[in-house]
Amino acid sequence: MTGVTGIPVITLDGGGGVGKSTLGCRLAERFGFHLLVSGALYRLVGLGLRERGIAFTDAAAINAFAAGLEVRFISADDGAGVECGGRRVDAEIAGEDAAEAASLAARAPAVRAALLASQRAFRRPPGLVADGRDMGTVVFPDAALKVFLTASAEERARRRYKQLRERGFCVSLDALTRELEERDRRDASRDIAPLRAADDAVVLDTTRQTLAETLLAIAALAAERNIKA
Ligand code: DC
Repeated sequence: MTGVTGIPVITLDGGGGVGKSTLGCRLAERFGFHLLVSGALYRLVGLGLRERGIAFTDAAAINAFAAGLEVRFISADDGAGVECGGRRVDAEIAGEDAAEAASLAARAPAVRAALLASQRAFRRPPGLVADGRDMGTVVFPDAALKVFLTASAEERARRRYKQLRERGFCVSLDALTRELEERDRRDASRDIAPLRAADDAVVLDTTRQTLAETLLAIAALAAERNIKA
């Protein structure tokens, strides 16, 4: 099923550090689809609201801030990354501070409501790969393929550690493991759009898989559903 709009969506949901954004970027490239990294939107909003002192309950101010965000996800060919208002913001949203601000903001119903329409606007021909926590459950319930990625907490912390170190962040593996577990607990236990697999999602445990193996597995699932590049 490709939904009422006829534009196929592949959703990738799962906890922090599981590899969603890297996989999403590669899949979007492979299929020639658009890309939505919803965590980046939550990071931008989390940081922006904190900077401006906007309360999570101030729906009007949150809506105005979210509506003004012009975000573009750049594919791997042009040097994967995120642009906001024509400016590259990869470095400022990559760190744990931004992840924490995002996870706190993401609990607020007004924040989730403000981001719903902007996330759905990324669904354009020929298709979309969307990664996050609630892509398959809330934002694109009619997605053609829903994948829920898991990996052990140790493995996810190790992946996030490697990624942050490569980007020049000074982080400790112990602290990272604790922070990831705390955010996952918060993301999974919140009342609204908690982190969970959609009933019709395929759950892939990637603990012992390389990125290339997971990519192949998802491509095979897409082929089974007749999703074409
Ligand atoms: O994917 P990420 O680590 O960049 O996400 C940062 C935080 O944003 C995460 O802790 C939970 C929140 N988030 C969310 O609630 N819903 C999404 N669709 C994406 C992210």
